[in-house]
Amino acid sequence: MNKKFLIVGNWKMNLTTTQASLLVHRLSENIKIHKNIEVVLAPTMLTLQPISLQIDHRKFKLASQDAYFIDEGAYTGQVSFTMLKNLVKYGIIGHSERRHIFGESLETVTKKVAAAYRNNIIPILCVGETNTERLAGETNQVIHDQVETALANITSEDITSLVIAYEPVWAIGTGSVATPDQASSVAKVIRNDISELYGSEAAGRVRILYGGSVKPDLVSGFLRDPQIDGLLVGGASLNYRQFADIVTGANRVAHNLKLKEDE
Ligand code: PGA
Repeated sequence: MNKKFLIVGNWKMNLTTTQASLLVHRLSENIKIHKNIEVVLAPTMLTLQPISLQIDHRKFKLASQDAYFIDEGAYTGQVSFTMLKNLVKYGIIGHSERRHIFGESLETVTKKVAAAYRNNIIPILCVGETNTERLAGETNQVIHDQVETALANITSEDITSLVIAYEPVWAIGTGSVATPDQASSVAKVIRNDISELYGSEAAGRVRILYGGSVKPDLVSGFLRDPQIDGLLVGGASLNYRQFADIVTGANRVAHNLKLKEDE
C-alpha cells in the first residue's frame, strides 16, 4: 500500500477554546503515531492557533474548515488562506454545509481551491449529492460537475496532492450512511473525471475520502475498499473514544492490507 489512510475530524462550530484543548489532550493520550495513518484535526478558526501549539505534529496535522479566496483586504469577518499558511496543512473546501447553508457556489469553491494551492495548503474538496438528486439518478452528473468546476486552473503538479471527500448530503449528521459500494462507485466516477483531465497516474494518486455519519464500526467496511483512502468524520470526532477507535480501526485495516500485500 503506497498511500497512508487519512482520517480527518471536522469539529464544525463546536467546542470553546478550553473544551477544544481538553479534547486534544484526551486524543493525544488515546491515539498513537501510526506510520500508515495521517490524523488531521479541523477545529474552528479561533482554536487553530492554540491547538497548533499544543499538539505533537508527528501525531496530528491541522486543517481549516473553510477560508476566504482573496489573500487580504477589506473583507470584514473573513480569514484568508494566506493567514493560515504554515498553520494548517489542509483546508476543507466546499463542505455541503457551506454550499447549502451559506450558499457557496461552484465558482466560489473553484476560487477557494486555487487560493489554497496558491498558499501551499492542500484542499480537501468536499463533493456530494442531495437525496433528491440521488433519487432522480443525478448523482454521477452532480459529482462530475462539482469536481470538474473545482479543478479549473489546477496544474498537473498540484492535482496529485489533492484530497476529495465524497460526502453524500443525505448522510451528513443524519445517521444514514452510504454503503461502501455506493461510496466506491462514486469514487470511481471521481477518478474517471480526474483521469480524463490529468491522466490515470494522477487519478490514482488523488486521495478520496468517505464522509457522512462515520462511526468506529463502519471503518473497516469503507477502508477495505481500494477506492477509499480515508474518512472525514464529523459528530464522532468530538468524542475522543470514538475518534480514537476510528484511528485504531484504520490502523488495523492498513496492517491487514499490508500483510496481504506481503504474502
Ligand atoms: P457527520 O459529518 O460525521 O457528523 O455525518 C460529516 C461531515 O460533515 O464532514
